[in-house]
Amino acid sequence: MKSANFLKENNARSIWHPMAHPAEMQANPPTIVAEGKGVRIRDIDGHEVVDAVGGLWNVNLGYSCSTVKDAISAQLNRLPYYSTFRGTSNDAVIELSEDLRRFFEPDGLSRAFYTSGGSDSVESALRLARQYHKVRGEPGRAKYLSLKKGYHGTHTGGASVNGNANFRTMYEPLMPGCYHIPAPYTYRNPFNETDPERLAQLCLAALEDEIAFQGAGTIAAMIMEPILGAGGVIPPHKSFMPGVREICSKNGILLITDEVITAFGRTGSWSGSRHWGVQPDLMCTAKAITNGYFPFGAVMISDHVAEVFEKDETGKAAIGHGYTYSGHPVGAAAAIACLAETERLNVKDNAAARGTELFLGLKALHDEFDIIGDVRGGHGLMCALELVSDRSTKAPVDKGTIGKIQEVAYRDGTMIRISGPNIILSPPLVLTSDDVKTILRSIKAGLKAA
Ligand SMILES: Cc1ncc(COP(=O)(O)O)c(C=O)c1O
Repeated sequence: MKSANFLKENNARSIWHPMAHPAEMQANPPTIVAEGKGVRIRDIDGHEVVDAVGGLWNVNLGYSCSTVKDAISAQLNRLPYYSTFRGTSNDAVIELSEDLRRFFEPDGLSRAFYTSGGSDSVESALRLARQYHKVRGEPGRAKYLSLKKGYHGTHTGGASVNGNANFRTMYEPLMPGCYHIPAPYTYRNPFNETDPERLAQLCLAALEDEIAFQGAGTIAAMIMEPILGAGGVIPPHKSFMPGVREICSKNGILLITDEVITAFGRTGSWSGSRHWGVQPDLMCTAKAITNGYFPFGAVMISDHVAEVFEKDETGKAAIGHGYTYSGHPVGAAAAIACLAETERLNVKDNAAARGTELFLGLKALHDEFDIIGDVRGGHGLMCALELVSDRSTKAPVDKGTIGKIQEVAYRDGTMIRISGPNIILSPPLVLTSDDVKTILRSIKAGLKAA
């Protein structure tokens, strides 16, 4: 490895970082992470911290998962690559598909279409949804519905259904035919409704209203995260997702759940859909499918959607979509090992238990610090603090203050993620109670310094 000075000086000279201003990255070098072990990371200066970001919601099993590492290395030695485009396949991807079919059986999902990550999974699901309607003879169903505050990656299709201007404005015009419904976000919503159940009903009414306005026969799919993640961890009331399911079914609209974050245990259930007792038509997965060790994803497909494609005799169901790395054998081998370890450790139960500890700890901080406007979580290991400069007006905290909190928390021993006015926490699911205490201690240190 090059010296710390070389790395700090040159970091942003030739790199453009995602989700950052190039000039800001040049002026303020980021933390350069050099090692990871268990749930901890160490930077090039040797400072070690608990990673309360979990990589980027993906390193669910931590940094020392040797079964996944060994599987990657064995597969690299045996067959480092071959495509799964028409005419060829590989043994790892076949084995993985059987594992995923078993894992997602309670979600009613039985087929997998492989991708290289979350944005690819979203793009694939959106496209397959349109094709599904064309194959079954309703080609006019081409529009998409989604939630404001939702995050669905950054491909043009995904950005078009995204519900956050930060990922949209500079890239407009986006794809036409995408319509956004208010999110069940109790802290801020256009209805001024603070009761989660009543708000869920209002958002469902808005969804029905939009469908009636557009015409159900023009809409292909509704895409949503079971718990909104990057938008600031927004768990809806338990009536919301079953309500969306019912409205979609009634109107012939496919429900795509974007579970790039929520699949594989993060919510305390094996999938976000299962968490709310809902079966989607298509599900986007990625991230924790390989514990973040290899870029990989899968769109899971329900039996009834699969049947329409598989029974087609017109030729319309031929899939004109796919990636060079769809079904990559190394990714597939990583995912087989990762799924086995995820189930062996039963990480969903630890996510639920540690998630409750973390959420309660954050609520206690809310009582102590006025800068915390809202605390969200309570469903596994995904929590957020929304910071304000004034609780009564809910004016968002300024960038400098939240940056200082992050810096002090890091010095104290925890990496936290800042997104706008939110501190977002998505640690590995193998976290211990002591690690939760460390995270809470560091955030408190940051808040005290603010
Ligand atoms: C819900 C959701 N969908 C899609 C994506 C995009 O995934 P990727 O960054 O792997 O393309 C993300 C990434 O955070 C996500 O949270």
